[in-house]
Amino acid sequence: MYDILKEMMKNQKQLFNLNEDIHYLNCAYKAPLLKSSENAGIKALIRDRNPADITPSDFFNETEDVRVLFGKIVNCLPSEVAIIPSASYGFSSALNNITCTRGQHAIVVDNDFPSDYFSIKRWCDTNMADLKIIKANNSLELNGEIWNNDIIDSINEKTALVLLSSIHWMNGLKFDLENIGEKCRSVGAKFIVDGTQSVGVLPMDVKKFNIDALICPTYKWLFGPYSLGLAYFGSYFHHGKPIEESWLNRTNALDFNNVSNYDPKYKPYAGRYNVGETPNFILMPMLKQALIQVNKWLDNDIQSYSKELIKPLISYLQDLGVKFENSAYFSNHLFGLKLPEEVNAKLLKENLIKNNIYLSVRGKSIRVSIHVFNTSEDIEKLIKVIELTKKSRS
Ligand SMILES: Cc1ncc(COP(=O)(O)O)c(C=O)c1O
Repeated sequence: MYDILKEMMKNQKQLFNLNEDIHYLNCAYKAPLLKSSENAGIKALIRDRNPADITPSDFFNETEDVRVLFGKIVNCLPSEVAIIPSASYGFSSALNNITCTRGQHAIVVDNDFPSDYFSIKRWCDTNMADLKIIKANNSLELNGEIWNNDIIDSINEKTALVLLSSIHWMNGLKFDLENIGEKCRSVGAKFIVDGTQSVGVLPMDVKKFNIDALICPTYKWLFGPYSLGLAYFGSYFHHGKPIEESWLNRTNALDFNNVSNYDPKYKPYAGRYNVGETPNFILMPMLKQALIQVNKWLDNDIQSYSKELIKPLISYLQDLGVKFENSAYFSNHLFGLKLPEEVNAKLLKENLIKNNIYLSVRGKSIRVSIHVFNTSEDIEKLIKVIELTKKSRS
């Protein structure tokens, strides 16, 4: 058993077609394509040459498989999963169904992703509600615990909803979903979570965390193609109004000869929120293969794998005075850091490009994001380039 586990935790670069010469430390930007997903996409494209090969069951089977596979990742029923095209679409589907009374407010954290911020801002404007933005105390070196406590303390009887990323997209800081969800439940606030940067690599349990809606594009840690997303909608939304009226979301859609016998009933639970043309004949088979693989990885421990891999980098940077959040708020697969004074950000950016290292550089900070396609060579190379940059400045 031990040997099998050990075997599984080795890097799995062979599952990808990544160029051998590059060091890709930017899965938070976009995941590389799995070979299995690429093959499914090519097969689907070839099938599209001849539409007669697309049967009525192809309109439903693959999407149903995808709903099952995602349900396993986030602990919900397949019928509670909707196929969406983007995070912003998912937020709108949820927010359009939330109302509030006079004097209520919504809560978001500072510097959350723009799709999140603008969605909740519009909801506040439409509903004449205040928007409370909970800021991190940037004068502190570590602010995970204080920020989380501030979020929990700010939720009260006047809170209509909280919209929050599961981890911060810029630095990987973990939000305490369990306690935030519990506080929302206790005051009757709706809890919408953006799972983009953690679902697939950190535990997600929509029931345990009292989440009302969980929104996830698939092109990062779910290894799906761009332009497909998945959402969980809990019981509050099961009788809501979807953004659009797709014929595919009616209970009689399977009966092709009878669809103009207009069926007033939507598919149960989250089925009404599926985006129009749900089956997406090219992308859906790709997503299905990706989710099969992500489900396999759930038995592995991606966090431990990542933690092992980044150990030398963390200790190298700590020696240069960089501080990291303690483990309760630190994500091993995605973390940001302020560069030490002696490392010039502009020069580092140039050196990273020269050395084929891909990661996100924003101002004086960098964001490193890794998965099982990364090896210790990638990390060693990054350390070397930081060291080189440091020396070339002094
Ligand atoms: C936290 C987070 N949410 C959402 C998105 C993508 O949003 P959308 O699907 O609306 O383009 C990103 C992309 O980087 C993200 O980091």
